[in-house]
Amino acid sequence: MAYETIIVEIEDEIALIRLNRPEALNALNSTLITELSEALTEADRNDKIRCIVLTGSEKAFAAGADIKEMSQKSFVDVYDEDLFGPQIDAIGRIRKPIIAAVSGYALGGGCELAMVCDFIIAAENAKFGQPEINLGVIAGIGGTQRLTRFVGKAKAMDMNLTGRFMEATEAERAGLVSRVVPTPKLIPEAMAAARKIAEKSQLTVKAVKESVNRAYETTLREGLLFERRSFHAMFATEDQKEGMAAFLEKREAQFRDR
Ligand code: HXC
Repeated sequence: MAYETIIVEIEDEIALIRLNRPEALNALNSTLITELSEALTEADRNDKIRCIVLTGSEKAFAAGADIKEMSQKSFVDVYDEDLFGPQIDAIGRIRKPIIAAVSGYALGGGCELAMVCDFIIAAENAKFGQPEINLGVIAGIGGTQRLTRFVGKAKAMDMNLTGRFMEATEAERAGLVSRVVPTPKLIPEAMAAARKIAEKSQLTVKAVKESVNRAYETTLREGLLFERRSFHAMFATEDQKEGMAAFLEKREAQFRDR
């Protein structure tokens, strides 16, 4: 499908989705967020895709919601349309893994979009921030909630209250990103991680994603029970038999997603 604000490429069972509004540092306008949630839903449905990488340009993953588009809206407008809420929720419900490959600015809605992905690989030049306070608003799609769970109250308060940017090294130390790589290596590293995931049984990939996400949505006791039952359920799959047999026979497993 042809999109106006994103570019979708498919390579080795990986969908590489690039945000593409260079004139506005990939600011998220309604077209972009709608196209992105459609493209991700489509990738989720496509059997030929096993993992998704979401990226921007070298200068900006996304510099936030489009301020020009937002500036004249009233309370009734944003409440009524639930600005970006349905789309970000739809992205959060994608079952295939999404890796955010972040180079440059990931600010406001851009940082929030990266956080709704499953993990973030950051380029050395990445800068994360929730600068909404400078615009007289607060974060609206996860910047006070997901960020607090990922980096803790102190840094989440600091970032949301001062609007300061966090460099990649600090983001890695704080647990916001899984790894930092040299800027030119960002896409190759993210694609290599995606290919590793694509090799696994997609049943276990889905189970891991569901189970880790539970850790953010429920109590420890409930989460542990969910994990345990999911672990037990894996023994009903052919891929568990294959994975363990392959280990014992000292060969590579051939998973069939069954
Ligand atoms: C619209 C944006 C934009 C944005 C940048 N641009 N960010 N347009 N919305 N969020 C545009 C600029 O207007 C400019 O267009 C062009 O992109 C290049 O930006 P510059 O500012 O000239 O670049 P630079 O000096 O390098 O500064 C980069 C920057 C700065 C530090 C990232 O652009 C910036 O502070 N942007 C705003 C960041 C922000 O406040 N994000 C939070 C938004 S609120 P022209 O036409 O002038 O060349 C939000 C709420 C989410 O995200 C909740 C939703 C429900």
